[in-house]
Amino acid sequence: MRISASGRKTWNVRSPSGNLGFVDGFAMTVRDASSDDGSDLVAVFPHADRLRWRITLANRGTEDLLVVEIGGVVRGLMSIRWSDGCDPPNPWLYGAEVAESFRSNGLGTALWNEAERRCIQGGATAASLDVDVDNVHAQRLYLRLGYEIVGPHQHRWRSFDPDTRALVAEGTSETWIMRKRLM
Ligand SMILES: CC(C)(COP(=O)(O)OP(=O)(O)OC[C@H]1O[C@@H](n2cnc3c(N)ncnc32)[C@H](O)[C@@H]1OP(=O)(O)O)[C@@H](O)C(=O)NCCC(=O)NCCS
Repeated sequence: MRISASGRKTWNVRSPSGNLGFVDGFAMTVRDASSDDGSDLVAVFPHADRLRWRITLANRGTEDLLVVEIGGVVRGLMSIRWSDGCDPPNPWLYGAEVAESFRSNGLGTALWNEAERRCIQGGATAASLDVDVDNVHAQRLYLRLGYEIVGPHQHRWRSFDPDTRALVAEGTSETWIMRKRLM
């Protein structure tokens, strides 16, 4: 994978990780989402419109959609947006979600590690994310992973009808941009 001057990825990495450890005796792996993951993804991230859009962008190659599996079942996901993120020109790591009963077992860390590996492989010198100011649990994870708060951000979100793409809701949330130097 390479990131061109425009920040756009020019080829993709599709190989799954090796075993990243065990949760309750079941192996943990991270890989790209595939078209077979539909219902598993919805079970983790029940926002059909946003999920469909993230899959569309992953299929276009402007983003990667990573999943973490435990014993072959998808239990978490996150996306890498290669350009036009919250802190350009850095790739934006966003939309992380781990199934509630699987949290605090290292799945989020495994997703972040794989995302950062891809960012480095793509030539990025830093990775960025934004996190709600009141989401202290996620912030603690990101601090532990080496991210630093670089400033406030107003995240604008929009929700679309998954079939018609008509706008059904929109709003803003106050977030921190966090950044990690990768090399
Ligand atoms: C944020 C989120 C993705 C993190 O995923 P996770 O799988 O729980 O993350 P990890 O397990 O890697 O790390 C979380 C904690 O578990 C601990 N941990 C990691 N591996 C562990 C293990 N093997 N055993 C026990 N604890 C472990 C970490 O030290 C960390 O502790 P902390 O409470 O001090 O932060 C998850 O909590 C989530 O889905 N939250 C709701 C959605 C959300 O807020 N998304 C982020 C939007 S920016």
